[in-house]
Amino acid sequence: MEKILLAPSILSADFANLSTSIDKIKRGGGNWVHIDVMDGSFVPDITIGPLVVKAIRPLTDLPFDVHLMIDHPDRIIPRFAEAGADYITFHWENVIHHHRVVQQIHSLGKKAGISIVPSTPVSAIKEILPYVDLVLVMSVNPGFGGQKLIPSCINKLTELVSIKNENNYDYFVSVDGGINNETLPSVLATDLDVVVSGSSFFSGNLKWEK
Ligand code: DX5
Ligand code: ZN
Repeated sequence: MEKILLAPSILSADFANLSTSIDKIKRGGGNWVHIDVMDGSFVPDITIGPLVVKAIRPLTDLPFDVHLMIDHPDRIIPRFAEAGADYITFHWENVIHHHRVVQQIHSLGKKAGISIVPSTPVSAIKEILPYVDLVLVMSVNPGFGGQKLIPSCINKLTELVSIKNENNYDYFVSVDGGINNETLPSVLATDLDVVVSGSSFFSGNLKWEK
C-alpha cells in the first residue's frame, strides 16, 4: 500500500496568522495544503481567492490542493494556476463541459481534479475518470467546516479505488469533510490516497501517524 497523504484544510486555520497555520501543517505531518475556495453562489460562504494563494505560496514547498466550490470555474482557473496551485479541483455538478475544463487545467501545467457532492454517485463521473489526476469525494455537503461525515460516501471511495485498479487509471482518491478520530479508520480501510482534514487537524485532535 502506498503512503496515504494528509491534506489539512486551511478553512479551519487562523486567518489572521496564516503563516503560523502553514507551520502547523508542516509540523503536524501534512503532505499537501488543501485550500477551499467558495464564491457565495455554488455554496453560501465566500473564502479564499488567488491573491491569498499567491501570498502564502512562498511559505512552503508543499503542494497546494485547491478545491474550487465555485460557479464558472473556467473563468478563474488561470488565476489560481498563476498564483501557485498544484492541483485544481472543480465540481462535477455545476459544469457541463468537464473535459474542456480538465484540458484547460492541464494546458496550464497543473493537475486536474473532479469533485462530487454526497448526492452525486460515482457513475456520474465515469466518463471523465480516465482524464483526471484526482477525485475528491465530499463526505459532507460543501460549504462549511466542522460538519458530520455522511457514512454512505465511504462506499464511493471503495468504488473509486476498484475502478482505478481495474482500469489502470492514474487518479488519487481523496475524501473531504467530517474526518476525525472516529471516522478516520473506516476511511483509511478503503485504501484511498488522500485525507483532507480541517477542524480536527487544526484543533490538534486528529491522531495522524506521520
Ligand atoms: C467543506 C470543505 C472541506 C472542509 C473540511 O466545504 O471542502 O475541505 O474544510 O473541514 P472538516 O474537516 O472540518 O469537515
Ligand atoms: Zn475542501
